Amino acid sequence: MSSSVHPLSSDHLKAAVGKAAAEYIKPHLEYSSIIGVGTGSTANCFIDALAEFKHLFDGAVASSEATALRLKERGIPVYDLNSVFELEFYVDGADEINQQLEMIKGGGGALTREKIVAAVAKEFVCVADESKLVDVLGAYPLPVEVIPMARSHVAREMVKLGGDPVLRDGVTTDNGNIILDLHHFHMVAGSKLAPTNLENAINQVTGVVTNGLFASRPADTLLLATQDGVKTIKAR
Ligand code: 5RP
Repeated sequence: MSSSVHPLSSDHLKAAVGKAAAEYIKPHLEYSSIIGVGTGSTANCFIDALAEFKHLFDGAVASSEATALRLKERGIPVYDLNSVFELEFYVDGADEINQQLEMIKGGGGALTREKIVAAVAKEFVCVADESKLVDVLGAYPLPVEVIPMARSHVAREMVKLGGDPVLRDGVTTDNGNIILDLHHFHMVAGSKLAPTNLENAINQVTGVVTNGLFASRPADTLLLATQDGVKTIKAR
C-alpha cells in the first residue's frame, strides 16, 4: 500500500529514525565505548533501540536528568562527562535543521548540557523527521538559557538584536536557570542574522548561559525520517 495513501505518523517516523541511529553506530561499538545521548522524544526512541544491544558497549553520557533516568531504566550505565575522555558519537534530535546541518535545539530545555556533550563528541548524529528540515532557521523560537537575575537585562539585549523574547513559563532547567524563547529571527545565510553570527552575538551578552543555535558546531550526519524511509545526509 502506498505511503501517500496512509502517511506514516510522527511517532512512527521517530521510532524509525531512532532505530536507524542505533544501527548506524552499532558497527563502531567496542566494549569500552561510551555514547553521548540527547534529550527529547526522538532521542528517547534512540535510547529504546540502543538498549537492545547494551551488552556491546560500556555506557552513556546523558544530556539531561530525564535522559539519564530513561537510560538507567533500560539498564544502560550513565557516566559523568568529567570521567569520560572521549565520545565517538553524540545522538540527538533537533527542533529545526537546515541543509548545512545547523540546528535550533532546546525545545525540551536541555540545550546547555546538549551543547556540552556535543562539544566532546567526534561525530554528532542528528535524528529528525522531515518536518524539522527547513531552508532558513528561525520559524521555531530560539531558546536561550539565562541566569535568573539577568532575565530583564538579557531580554532587553535580545530586543536590540532584533528578537522578541518570551519567558518560558514555569520552566527551570536542570542547571537551575530560566529559558527565554526568541521569536522572529530569520537566520538567512550571509546576513547579520546568519546562524553562526547570531549564535556568537547572543553568547556575548552577560547573563546568557547558552543559546540553542548549533551552528559553530553543527551536526556531522543527519538521519532524516521520511515517508520513503530514513535518509542519510552528511555535512558538506
Ligand atoms: C531538547 C532538544 C530536542 O532535541 C528537540 O527539542 C527535539 O525534540 P523532539 O525529538 O521531541 O522533537 O533540543 O532540548
